[in-house]
Amino acid sequence: MIVIAHLSDIHIDSSPRSAERTRSVMAYLESIDAGRLDAVVVTGDIADHGLESEYVRVRELLRTRHPLLVCPGNHDRRDVFREVLLGAPPERAGAPVNQVLRADGFVLALGDSSVPGKDEGFLEEETLAWLEGVLDDTPEGVPVLVGFHHPPTALHIPFVDGIRQFGEHRLAELTGRRPGIVGFLCGHAHTAAATSFAGRPLLVAPGVISTSKLPWEPYGGPSQHVYRDEMAPSLAFHVLDDEGRLTTHYRSVPV
Ligand SMILES: [Fe+2]
Ligand SMILES: [Fe+2]
Repeated sequence: MIVIAHLSDIHIDSSPRSAERTRSVMAYLESIDAGRLDAVVVTGDIADHGLESEYVRVRELLRTRHPLLVCPGNHDRRDVFREVLLGAPPERAGAPVNQVLRADGFVLALGDSSVPGKDEGFLEEETLAWLEGVLDDTPEGVPVLVGFHHPPTALHIPFVDGIRQFGEHRLAELTGRRPGIVGFLCGHAHTAAATSFAGRPLLVAPGVISTSKLPWEPYGGPSQHVYRDEMAPSLAFHVLDDEGRLTTHYRSVPV
């Protein structure tokens, strides 16, 4: 049985609030014995303004004994993300940050759906080719989870749907040829949600920093779009069993 903790949208800035909410979630994950979690994945919007000082804080906040994989979102800056957070040498300026975790019994491919300067998402040809390569290098029967920041489908939250991942027919076509993909993980929507994409589960992590208001929820509080302190930070646990079936649990953590 494989267990993956999935959080998203920590939006670290210079305020104590963003750090406190992330610290609560990470302390909760650290209370779990080493070896019980196969990975911790954070699907983007890591630094609120993509600043070097924010990534320095993130580096401390996301320190964990579990295997960790992080991808950029629309609030991140690829080059700063790569250099400060990943400690990786600068590649071609502006190149997408695509990473893979090959673990015992599964593969987690985390792609970069961000588009520099925009809030909406798109998987560049380079990223799709990288994903094909990851799948080519994965033995048959090993499940592959594919993650990125932007959901490649509408979630019926107009504010989010307007800045979702576009050009998704290319990913759908790829998925149709690749039975090894068992599910998709994303963030960006700041709400715990489950749907499907290209016939596979699409599991959306809630936002650590805030929670999106659904169109049928009464608007209240200072923000029109999100609940801030009214809702606790949350995360998801994805469980992949020996039959290749994916089960997701959602958890809230007190600040
Ligand atoms: Fe976000
Ligand atoms: Fe986002």
